[in-house]
Amino acid sequence: MCGIVGYVGSSRAVDIVVEGLRRLEYRGYDSAGVAVPDGARVRVSKRAGKLVNLEGALADDPLPASSSAMGHTRWATHGAPTDPNAHPHIDCHGRLAVVHNGIIENFATLRAELEAAGHHLTSETDTEAVAHLLEDACEASGGDLAEAMRQVCRRLEGAFTLVAVHADAPDLVVGARRNSPLVVGRGQGENFLASDVAAFIAYTRDAIELGQDQVVAITSADVTVTDFYGQVVQTREYHVDWDISAAEKGGHDYFMLKEIAEQPKAVADTLLGRLTPDGRLSLDEMRLSDDELREIDKIIIIACGTAFYAGLTAKYAIEHWTRIPCEVELSSEFRYRDPIVDRSTLVIAISQSGETMDTLMALRHAREQRARVLAICNTNGSTIPRESDAVLYTHAGPEVGVAATKTFLTQVVACYLIGLYLAQVRETKFGDEVAIEVDQLDRMPAAVEQALETMEQIRALARELSDSKSVLFIGRHVGYPVALEGALKLKELAYMHAEAFAAGELKHGPIALIEDGLPVVVVVPPRGRDALHDKIVSNIQEIRARGARTIVLAEEGDDTVAPWSDTLIQLPKVPTLLQPLVATVPLQIFACELAMARGNDVDQPRNLAKSVTVE
Ligand code: M6R
Repeated sequence: MCGIVGYVGSSRAVDIVVEGLRRLEYRGYDSAGVAVPDGARVRVSKRAGKLVNLEGALADDPLPASSSAMGHTRWATHGAPTDPNAHPHIDCHGRLAVVHNGIIENFATLRAELEAAGHHLTSETDTEAVAHLLEDACEASGGDLAEAMRQVCRRLEGAFTLVAVHADAPDLVVGARRNSPLVVGRGQGENFLASDVAAFIAYTRDAIELGQDQVVAITSADVTVTDFYGQVVQTREYHVDWDISAAEKGGHDYFMLKEIAEQPKAVADTLLGRLTPDGRLSLDEMRLSDDELREIDKIIIIACGTAFYAGLTAKYAIEHWTRIPCEVELSSEFRYRDPIVDRSTLVIAISQSGETMDTLMALRHAREQRARVLAICNTNGSTIPRESDAVLYTHAGPEVGVAATKTFLTQVVACYLIGLYLAQVRETKFGDEVAIEVDQLDRMPAAVEQALETMEQIRALARELSDSKSVLFIGRHVGYPVALEGALKLKELAYMHAEAFAAGELKHGPIALIEDGLPVVVVVPPRGRDALHDKIVSNIQEIRARGARTIVLAEEGDDTVAPWSDTLIQLPKVPTLLQPLVATVPLQIFACELAMARGNDVDQPRNLAKSVTVE
């Protein structure tokens, strides 16, 4: 949610920053802007709409060459997405500029105070108050921008990443963070600040994590990090394990298409190195001892959106393998219902970005109740794994398309690994049983590859259905979260009404929605679980009898469903618990193709942002 880039070095700073913004645009695309120090003032260029509008403005009226610059892509919270509300925001004299990601909760009070003191604010944003607070603080601290930032941060409530430049310090960029992401990129004779390493990965893969309530000052040679009171703090440096090619479209029209195609590799990478030579599952980065894991008597998975559906999928496997009760809860609901959590509860926080505010707040609540928290995350150095007791990284590589695809599959795989590991440690499964399950998981990259072969059939189907008003999805057991995920993808990408139901629930009300020609996608479990399978075959007949157009996903060779299927999509044969890893793939392609057929921007759907850093 909002992308921020800052740069100091010998290259043309504004160009580096605009390029960084292009790589961060998935974080928000309501407006974009940049600022550079220019003599006695800062020069700002900003435009509502996508980055391309800013690039047009810069082509017509270029900013001067400078050694420092900063920029912002916005996902609007306070104030409509207009030019005046676009970041950066400046002080009364145009001598400093600031960009912000997050929400300043006490901004109304601060704004009233500033206006009473004679400051002139021109936008509807919470951010502009910070520019004017910095103006006063700079004056009070003799022009020390980093010190001014510290003073201002101490007055702010809410979540923020702030980055600022000042005309009097043309070789300095200052940033701060609380509950919102900011990383440092360490280059040779140049340094970077960004919401995400993607912004500077073309220049350096050496990054520094910033902790909570820290202020960072970068020059071309130095990086200095302090707390909000000026105390220098130790930081953790790390090397990013992917390169620029991972953040490019690689010949695909959209990042989402590339990321769908990358799924076999993402699953394989997440599984890599998990089995020891003696056939035991090893999760050495777990940081929770076997004794601690034996004490667990309840698991609660917290997550949002697609990650929540990964959690719902995992519940079936975790309970089956470990016999530990497992609840799955939306992070945004968790802490408001006074959940029963204690030291023997394992809370699993699933988040691709590691920055989702709802999940972060839920995690903190769980830790306050002394629960052990284990993060499943795709982003090294992000806040959620840092604040957890343990972490299991999914190795999906960067996911740029706003719609989650490869990270869903890898989150399910990571949850399954945790389930099997718990089963091994607690001996609810024999070692050889765990090894058999891991072996099945190891076959999944090939199965996912096979699921991608449905691409052409799905494309044709999507073109046929592009004028549909609504699509329903039904499934049973692990097919139910798959149905939910399919419906979510369709809503967010094709802007179509889509709803998912547990197939058994249809008869309790939703079946009234079925009318002639309504497309209904049915996820059919493999035949091994006969009761489950036969029940859903009956459900297909019930909806078809009422006029539904049935789109049936079933394992290859399942000829029992063919008579009731208007379209039959064949899935690779896999065990029931693993079917989500193959059944989700055609549904991702379906949503992507329908979005394209309807002329929507697949990678940047309207009103959304990749990383949701507000509650
Ligand atoms: O970064 P996270 O995994 O915490 O994000 C959670 C959701 O915001 C995310 O999965 C969202 O639902 C996706 N855009 C769905 O495609």
